[in-house]
Amino acid sequence: MTPDLLEEGAQRLQAREQTKGSNTQSGGHNAGYSRLATPGEVDIAHGRILYLEDVSVSFDGFKAINNLSLDIAPGELRCIIGPNGAGKTTMMDIITGKTRPQSGTVFFGSTIDLLRYNESQIAQMGIGRKFQKPTVFEQLTVFENLELALKTDKNVKPSMFFKLDSQQSDRLAEILHTIHLADNARRMAGNLSHGQKQWLEIGMLLMQDPKLLLLDEPVAGMTDEETARTAELFLSLKGKHSLMVVEHDMGFIRSISEIVTVLCDGAVLAQGTLDQVQQDERVIEVYLGR
Ligand SMILES: Nc1ncnc2c1ncn2[C@@H]1O[C@H](COP(=O)(O)OP(=O)(O)O)[C@@H](O)[C@H]1O
Ligand SMILES: [Mg+2]
Repeated sequence: MTPDLLEEGAQRLQAREQTKGSNTQSGGHNAGYSRLATPGEVDIAHGRILYLEDVSVSFDGFKAINNLSLDIAPGELRCIIGPNGAGKTTMMDIITGKTRPQSGTVFFGSTIDLLRYNESQIAQMGIGRKFQKPTVFEQLTVFENLELALKTDKNVKPSMFFKLDSQQSDRLAEILHTIHLADNARRMAGNLSHGQKQWLEIGMLLMQDPKLLLLDEPVAGMTDEETARTAELFLSLKGKHSLMVVEHDMGFIRSISEIVTVLCDGAVLAQGTLDQVQQDERVIEVYLGR
């Protein structure tokens, strides 16, 4: 979930508490909606939506990311695999502005230097992130969760009483369908299955029409059927969005992957089709133990 969305949801829940007459929380505040100084299109003329070069991050002297270089083409669905501690989540932290690297270059398209922006600005520029655990607003309905996500769109004026226009309603309906929750629109998000919550959060990201989606272990804890439907979902998003998917489930990776990047010790160990990387001696070694 994006920082603005977390803020928005907290406000929505607080507003609801206040209208109920309970005053468990005092005050209430209006968020300072951060706006991009230089909004604009992402320049993909060079055939890359994301570009990392020689990126390094150390935590207390330990190099979690070690001269990492990697790029992703527009519309690509890139899979990232690698043993625990390889730096996969840290890489996403860097792209989304949560962690600052000590050195290196991170570009969104060929002109946007992501290291100059904060988390909220990066989300607004069109990089959506799905964390491992589902983070939806459990006390709101599926519909309300999606509506809220639209509200934090940089093009939509913030206001407490927000009404969808017909274009927005159409988009919401389309996304409900895409994430397989059209029949559950009025259900409380808290009553959904784990897999459905994951889809809902993906739907919330989609409401903001991200150019690049980062998904960290999206099928962990899902049933086989939910996993298969998630694969279908990701394949349907490919092309319209660029996706970076971190997963351990190799069956899932096989069903969605084109190029697979293997991360190890904070750098790219191998890259190619899943068959190619699975036959790579170095990859076999890091997976089968040393
Ligand atoms: N905030 C942090 N402080 C200290 N060490 C961290 C921090 N974040 C990650 N690490 C370390 O960096 C390495 C990479 O972690 P992570 O990116 O979570 O790996 P992965 O997602 O591939 O399992 C691990 O050794 C982890 O312990
Ligand atoms: Mg991780």
